[in-house]
Amino acid sequence: MQQKHRRRHTFPLDPWGIRETGFDTDSHFLDETLFALGNGYIGLRGSHEETYTGPKGSSRDGSYLNGFYDTEEIHYPENAYGLARLNEFMLNVPNGKRIECFIEGERVDLLQGEVADYERALDFRRGIVERRFEWVSPQGRRIAISSRRIVCLAHKHLYGMQYQVRAMNFSGRVRLVSILDGAVKNLEAGDDPRVGSTVHGPSLHLLDLEQEGGYAALIQRTTNSGFTLVSAIESELSGASGTIGHAVHGQRIETLFDCDLARGGSAGLVKFGCYFSSRDFPEAELASRARETLREARLSGFDALCAEQEAWLADFWKQADVEIAGDDALQQGMRFNQFHLLQSVGRDGKSNIAAKGVTGEGYEGHYFWDTEIYILPFFLYSKPDVARKLLEYRYAGLPKARERARQMAHGRGALYPWRTIAGEECSAYYPAGTAQYHINADIAYSIKQYVEISGDMAYLLQYGAEIVLDTARIWTGIGGYAPGEPDRFCINTVTGPDEYTAIVNNNYYTNLMAQLHLRYAVEVAETVMRADPSAYARIAAAIELDPTEIAEWRRAADCMVLPYDEKRGIHPQDDSFLSKKVWDFAATPRANYPLLLHYHPLVIYRHQVCKQADVVLALLLQGDRFTLEEKRRDFDYYEKITTHDSSLSSCIFSIIAAEVGYADKAYDYFMETARLDLDDTHGNTCHGVHTAAMAGTWLGVACGFGGMRGYGGNLRFAPSLPRQWSHYRFRVHVRGQLLQVQVAQDGVEYRLLKGEHLNFAHRGEAVELTRARPARKLP
Ligand code: BGC
Repeated sequence: MQQKHRRRHTFPLDPWGIRETGFDTDSHFLDETLFALGNGYIGLRGSHEETYTGPKGSSRDGSYLNGFYDTEEIHYPENAYGLARLNEFMLNVPNGKRIECFIEGERVDLLQGEVADYERALDFRRGIVERRFEWVSPQGRRIAISSRRIVCLAHKHLYGMQYQVRAMNFSGRVRLVSILDGAVKNLEAGDDPRVGSTVHGPSLHLLDLEQEGGYAALIQRTTNSGFTLVSAIESELSGASGTIGHAVHGQRIETLFDCDLARGGSAGLVKFGCYFSSRDFPEAELASRARETLREARLSGFDALCAEQEAWLADFWKQADVEIAGDDALQQGMRFNQFHLLQSVGRDGKSNIAAKGVTGEGYEGHYFWDTEIYILPFFLYSKPDVARKLLEYRYAGLPKARERARQMAHGRGALYPWRTIAGEECSAYYPAGTAQYHINADIAYSIKQYVEISGDMAYLLQYGAEIVLDTARIWTGIGGYAPGEPDRFCINTVTGPDEYTAIVNNNYYTNLMAQLHLRYAVEVAETVMRADPSAYARIAAAIELDPTEIAEWRRAADCMVLPYDEKRGIHPQDDSFLSKKVWDFAATPRANYPLLLHYHPLVIYRHQVCKQADVVLALLLQGDRFTLEEKRRDFDYYEKITTHDSSLSSCIFSIIAAEVGYADKAYDYFMETARLDLDDTHGNTCHGVHTAAMAGTWLGVACGFGGMRGYGGNLRFAPSLPRQWSHYRFRVHVRGQLLQVQVAQDGVEYRLLKGEHLNFAHRGEAVELTRARPARKLP
């Protein structure tokens, strides 16, 4: 296993939060990610309220809106037909977080003067960041400052802040400046392809601004996508009286509050902010919606919004909490990850969950297969309503997927983009982008899993069936029978999940998933035809489905080539994989990882070396098709050549290691994933959290140690307890019921928390669980 860069655990091991006790400019960019707040739409990086000056005073500040984007043309010095043309990228939107504080004219600056008793904490149960410190100015004035910040989970467009100051050793004038800064732009990408867009300069242009009393708003338009955005704040003094003033500098609006404080006296500022865009509402309504939202927030008050946030989260944790007893670092990592997933996930059916959530500009706010294969299961089992929204989003993308299929010379069917925001294919590097056709099968797999586990047939009839059928056609479009070999259905010239191998024939993962997709398409067509003939007629008409296609799918699935190497007893990753030489790991210095930053792609492609789980992932997704021995052999083989340069890898290796009985490896790989962002083990959390890996932590507990699988909608468990833990517990929703699984040294307990009756298997033994009687099994 490749050892990753390690950062010390800097936060105390609190099971329900993270807390920093020193103002540390060295880990500044990283902390901005870790302390970011979001509600699935708004994402605010955890920058401080005050600006800093000095050489270490820079920040990678950002405020983002999930699904809100601008576009840029992709320029290729050497062009080719059908390359992705338009990049959609998530925008850094006006910054409403800033509050400046002046005492007798001296500006509070954490890098000047002295900071004492500093503490900042993010609480996962309350969904709030709280901060307090004392600051001594260069002229010796001491002031105590505390602040609170929330992004409201119950209100898509709203965030709020409270800022409190107390004059400790002086009396005099305090000025609080509440700022809305619209002069923002995105980060510029360097050589790291994972970082940001290539756009230089601002993407948002001022149309108008408003300032009146405590209210301030900016109305801007994006350069190319043509969206209008209203960003507004409402600020008000609390606990003190003072005067109000106004200033505007370009696109920066300031509301200034002056008050005179006696020694020991205090003053506060409450600030609410919101964003409304024409992606959600008609342009004419945006300004009035913003005003109304802020008016209502003011009426409710900051404390009431905090109470509402806590209640909202209590409900979430009741469904989703995973308890790990015996390892505080893991417990903290686990809940941190769950909390960030919740903060990142779009819940409006129009947005999805980006690779970095709404915490940074890495991967430009794009959505990938990460959603379906890694993240969706977490929501499916923990909060199924969110899983549905994620899949509704895919339905909304169907027209664009059809367009893309035509560009790719598929006369029929739909091909989903490898990376996108609003449906456009945005992968400029097609060998590791568009070529990953498996995205279609991943989406179909996830619809199957969703429908079977949630029982939501309405989704299938209204949305899912059409997706599954129209995307299945692509396999018969790109695949085919080798000349003279009518029994071998091959899928050539694709890239599988492992991005260190590209443009290959018969990638094992792709073929196996395509096979399942084709078979599921046949099943869906037959089920819908039977259950709801009028729905079938509607869908068939919409996609002009020819009944002969269904027979074609069945045959292609039955003839699908699934490479197997008899000599080694393993599944080769593709037709040519085993003929390549193995990467010389011994001669590769640690500093050369990730390989993608140090070697030309061709150099990498010529070797047996994997960035991430590929065959090993197939062993998880369709585990019922392999024997334990096969799994062990594949695991052993691929483990030796996998660098885990992708954060999507270790969790999958952990799960399969647990299954094949490699307990220590399962634990080590799990550790790699569980604190990946908290410990910044990939060294790039400053660009945003890794949402797929975060969900991988949950998969590691439920599917890895818990041994849970849900093939065909039938749950089965095979729990094991890592020796480092005294017990662990997780909960899963299945068809409207909520099951709790607790694994301890003295046995496993299954308890139905919601619902009356559930059948599942424990280590192959059928269990019939009722609400009244929990089932206990020996370890
Ligand atoms: C991985 C992909 C993944 C993407 C976004 C890449 O490094 O190789 O599998 O979809 O990151 O997370």
